[in-house]
Amino acid sequence: MTTAAPPTQISVNERNFRPQTLGDFIGQRQLKQTMQLMLYSAKTRKATLEHVAFFGGPGLGKTTLAAIIAHEANSRLHEIAAPSIGRPGDLASALTMLQPNDILFLDEIHALKRDSAETLYSAMEDFKVSIKLSKDSDPITMKVHPFTLIGSTTDFGLLPGPMRARFGHSFHLQPYTLDELVQIIERAAEKMGFFTEEEALQAIARRSRGTPRVALRLLRRCVDVAISSDEDFIDTELVEATMPILGLDALGLEEADRQYLAALIEIYRGGPAGLGAIAANAGLDMSTAKNIVEPALLLMGLVARTPRGRRVTRAGHKHHQTFAQSAASVNWNRIEAADQAVN
Ligand SMILES: Nc1ncnc2c1ncn2[C@@H]1O[C@H](COP(=O)(O)OP(=O)(O)OP(=O)(O)O)[C@@H](O)[C@H]1O
Ligand SMILES: [Mg+2]
Repeated sequence: MTTAAPPTQISVNERNFRPQTLGDFIGQRQLKQTMQLMLYSAKTRKATLEHVAFFGGPGLGKTTLAAIIAHEANSRLHEIAAPSIGRPGDLASALTMLQPNDILFLDEIHALKRDSAETLYSAMEDFKVSIKLSKDSDPITMKVHPFTLIGSTTDFGLLPGPMRARFGHSFHLQPYTLDELVQIIERAAEKMGFFTEEEALQAIARRSRGTPRVALRLLRRCVDVAISSDEDFIDTELVEATMPILGLDALGLEEADRQYLAALIEIYRGGPAGLGAIAANAGLDMSTAKNIVEPALLLMGLVARTPRGRRVTRAGHKHHQTFAQSAASVNWNRIEAADQAVN
């Protein structure tokens, strides 16, 4: 059991749980070691950090790590969501405003439009940008101070080759172990002023899909329930009572996961089947199926990847049978609509 101060002021904002230093960041051991070397080397050489790419599923810590790098390197961090960049000129003006050793964090960098990506290449490589002020004018070239680009994406494969080649470091974030997730929520509970018991933390971690953001969200819902009954203690009973309210079953599967399993088992007899076909039949968009649903099912060993497609495992089958009632809620209207769309 962890002891903590009784709840006084409760802060549930995600920002409050962001670790600020590499030392506070739990898990991703190998990544942290390499990052420490990279930071130390740049500091010793008094050099600008090389460009860094982070890739990994939503909520695994990419934005957090970008902020940690800025903190550890004592640099200013400028954050831009790549989809918000309309024209190359917008990116060029952001680049020319950077001061030496500043960090530009481009989130969802795979969504950068082609002409903006080309502006970025020359900035990354030669610290200069060329832009046309009007359609028919000659391009003008402007210098950019040495800066570090941190690019973040859920899928490194979506980046064009020339962009991939310009990153000095590419870090692939892995799902977190149960122990690491327990540590993350234990700290957060402490910060919010709640007592916890180890089994309760385990019960939350088990349902967290290997993802800190999910673990913290589930913890916050447990905190809500504790507060509603004027408690400052989160025990297993409270966690087990909270999960069904959130639509989570014993393994932590959500409706979308069950729809995926149901489609694979009931329509494709357990597979093998392609991701696109399963997603269409389960009524899921490809990005949700690929980045959120499937990684969790693979991690929990309910689905396996084979050269011929996805296949349900024995554990997946068992889970589906146990929760047949929820699985029976496959949305047949959606499936028929998807079939029509495919045919
Ligand atoms: N290793 C970690 N230790 C502690 N907390 C973490 C860790 N990784 C992530 N978190 C917490 O999880 C939440 C989500 O992390 P973050 O926003 O960095 O994820 P992300 O990879 O950028 O997600 P997205 O792809 O949606 O942008 C934050 O509250 C963050 O503090
Ligand atoms: Mg992020």
